[in-house]
Amino acid sequence: MAKNVIFVAPNLMPSTLVFVRAVASLDHVNLGIISHHPATAIPADLKPLVSAHYQINNALDVQQVAKAARFMGAKFGGIDCLIGYLEELQITMGEVRDILGIPGLGKEASLNFRDKSRMKTVLRQHGLPCAHHAIVSQISEAIKFCQEIGFPVVAKPPAGLGARNTYQINNLSELKNYLTQHPPSAAVPALLEEFVQGSEHSYESMCRNGQTLWHSLTHYYPAPLEVMQNPWIQWCVLLPKEIDGPEYGDIRSVAARANQVLGMATGLTHMEWFRRTDGSLAISEVGARPPGAQIMKIISLAHDVDFYHSWARLVVQGTFDSPPRKFAAGAAYLRGQKGGRVKAVHGLDQAQKEAGNLVVQAQLPKPGQVKSSSYEGEGYVLVRHEDTEVVKHALKRLVTLIQVEME
Ligand SMILES: Nc1ncnc2c1ncn2[C@@H]1O[C@H](COP(=O)(O)OP(=O)(O)O)[C@@H](O)[C@H]1O
Ligand SMILES: [Mg+2]
Repeated sequence: MAKNVIFVAPNLMPSTLVFVRAVASLDHVNLGIISHHPATAIPADLKPLVSAHYQINNALDVQQVAKAARFMGAKFGGIDCLIGYLEELQITMGEVRDILGIPGLGKEASLNFRDKSRMKTVLRQHGLPCAHHAIVSQISEAIKFCQEIGFPVVAKPPAGLGARNTYQINNLSELKNYLTQHPPSAAVPALLEEFVQGSEHSYESMCRNGQTLWHSLTHYYPAPLEVMQNPWIQWCVLLPKEIDGPEYGDIRSVAARANQVLGMATGLTHMEWFRRTDGSLAISEVGARPPGAQIMKIISLAHDVDFYHSWARLVVQGTFDSPPRKFAAGAAYLRGQKGGRVKAVHGLDQAQKEAGNLVVQAQLPKPGQVKSSSYEGEGYVLVRHEDTEVVKHALKRLVTLIQVEME
């Protein structure tokens, strides 16, 4: 029987459309799109695969999304899934699922994934390791927390994304400075966390009804906050070929349990976690949505499988075949420093000589391209090989050799 799927895609962004296309390519699907754009804005290749469209002007407005979904539900004769890729949409979609009785994450579980303070409270209640934290609405609370926990601390919005407005605070004077610039209040509280020293990683899980069916993980070189703080750093992400050994035993069990206690339903989760310098673990955050930062492509390359398609099959049809991992894979992000636009990309010849045989895909920054606001920069190169060390070395060489000149 056909599945009735509604996708909330407010701006029809390429990063969302790749997931929409994966759903659209499945057999026996009635696909409805809720968007800020009119139906004419749906790309030509998708149009014939879309059965219904509803335009709204605010995809964060529960009533608007519910009205649009109700319209499609009436047309299709029911709704099996309500999907949206963007992090900001998760709570709205949870509320709409609750109102219309659609299976999947409801509002309460969505809040566990979206509100980082609540997430940490739930994780700690279940004995799962994470950084000490405090949600503060007064300056005195902030100072008290820092005195108890010690510097450095991290300050961030309770429901931020992309490491925006996230700061490392090293001493009392930096704290006072931060609090003057971002005065916390009951309406806009700040989240303070113990600064976890160690290496940072991601962990992706395919879940069905909260049970983890499959996982993958990556190493971040270095931590995103360090990349944010140092504009000259070009970030790398590595998915090793071997991730089933005892060195990851703790994160495997902790992550599976975290998915359960936070209330995951069916889909792909993207966790970030630290290996502290003493060897212990700390969960950083968990998103109830597929990862960004090219990680879907990296996973696809490592398994020689289209993971967008695997994700769509799992979410819509509930089926997933765990593929063998054939390669290590990774991304080197290309990022200019000063200036507003890309002028030129240097070092490509030598990069090609040293790592060209490992490159599977590249999106090079184009002259004239506007500087990105993200620490991922203006372009990337994806590489893969059977040997993890070869990929790790290639990533390092790529970000050393390739330089993006800005003007
Ligand atoms: N408690 C912490 N200790 C050390 N680094 C942290 C901590 N919290 C966040 N960071 C750094 O800041 C980055 C962004 O924070 P994160 O909570 O992941 O927010 P976002 O949702 O914006 O990705 C992380 O990737 C990490 O590098
Ligand atoms: Mg993060």
